[in-house]
Amino acid sequence: MSKVVLITGASSGMGRASAEFLSAKGFVVYAGTRDVKEIDNYKNENITPLKLDLRDQKSIDAAVAFIKSQHQKIDILVNNAGYGLVSSVEDVKEEEMLNQFNINVFGALRVCKSVIPLMRENESGLIINISSFLGKIGLPLLTMYNSSKYALEGITDSLRYELKDFGIRVHSIMPGFFDTKFARQNLVTNEKTFDANSPYAKIVATLAPVIVEQINNGNSAKEVAEMIFEIIQNPKFPARSTVGDKAKKFIPMKKELSDEDFERRVIEYYNL
Ligand SMILES: NC(=O)c1ccc[n+]([C@@H]2O[C@H](COP(=O)([O-])OP(=O)(O)OC[C@H]3O[C@@H](n4cnc5c(N)ncnc54)[C@H](OP(=O)(O)O)[C@@H]3O)[C@@H](O)[C@H]2O)c1
Repeated sequence: MSKVVLITGASSGMGRASAEFLSAKGFVVYAGTRDVKEIDNYKNENITPLKLDLRDQKSIDAAVAFIKSQHQKIDILVNNAGYGLVSSVEDVKEEEMLNQFNINVFGALRVCKSVIPLMRENESGLIINISSFLGKIGLPLLTMYNSSKYALEGITDSLRYELKDFGIRVHSIMPGFFDTKFARQNLVTNEKTFDANSPYAKIVATLAPVIVEQINNGNSAKEVAEMIFEIIQNPKFPARSTVGDKAKKFIPMKKELSDEDFERRVIEYYNL
């Protein structure tokens, strides 16, 4: 019987690449999205678009119940949906701060909450969290995004213990910079921080264009899809893995150097 996969944020980028890659490998793919019309555009008959509002447990439960009614199982969950807030801490609005965690952290937790009972009933399952190399490394103006991805890393670590006796594996993928819609559509900027007269104008001018350029010239989303496939195939795959040039450069460096030496390298690299 084909394996059933649910991917969140599947209308573009890594989510879409993974949906297309896995469906081509014979998986039954449910592509969770805010806007199913975006996914209808794929015209791929092995992918079923599913409306999913990550802020709303009922919307998620309904989507999971629908998959259960069709297959009695979900083998693989890929928590992929996410966006990045770019703001100084002093400027961030309450709503911006809460929404960043509501999608990147609580959204993933809500989907886990809904899917785990089904995986537990079947005594088998795999959860893959798409985090970021910025889930282990901080950068200025990305405090909210960084901390949401650090939180996702913590979720992976805790859930691995919590679910191991039920035959459910939990893994994290930490991508470097990837050429997706992320910089074009899903980087949200705080007005005050990006004002020309802001005390943060210098760091905005130094860092923001470089990050956008590095994302837009980043690796191909297909590499993430291939890694997801490897994790599915190999039960001994490492708990946490890096993909993409920037992740492979910075994560080992972070492990090897003291915090202060690492910080000096980042300051030098980004001219901070
Ligand atoms: N691109 C990079 O350089 C990079 C690097 C490291 C980690 N990541 C992470 O990789 C994941 C996928 O990103 P991507 O690069 O493939 O970018 P993308 O093409 O912008 O896709 C992100 C997806 O997340 C969903 N999403 C965005 N904002 C949302 C919101 N406010 N509420 C609900 N869903 C929302 C969207 O799904 P729908 O429109 O289908 O609802 C969107 O398709 C994200 O978690 C991101 O943080 C990206």
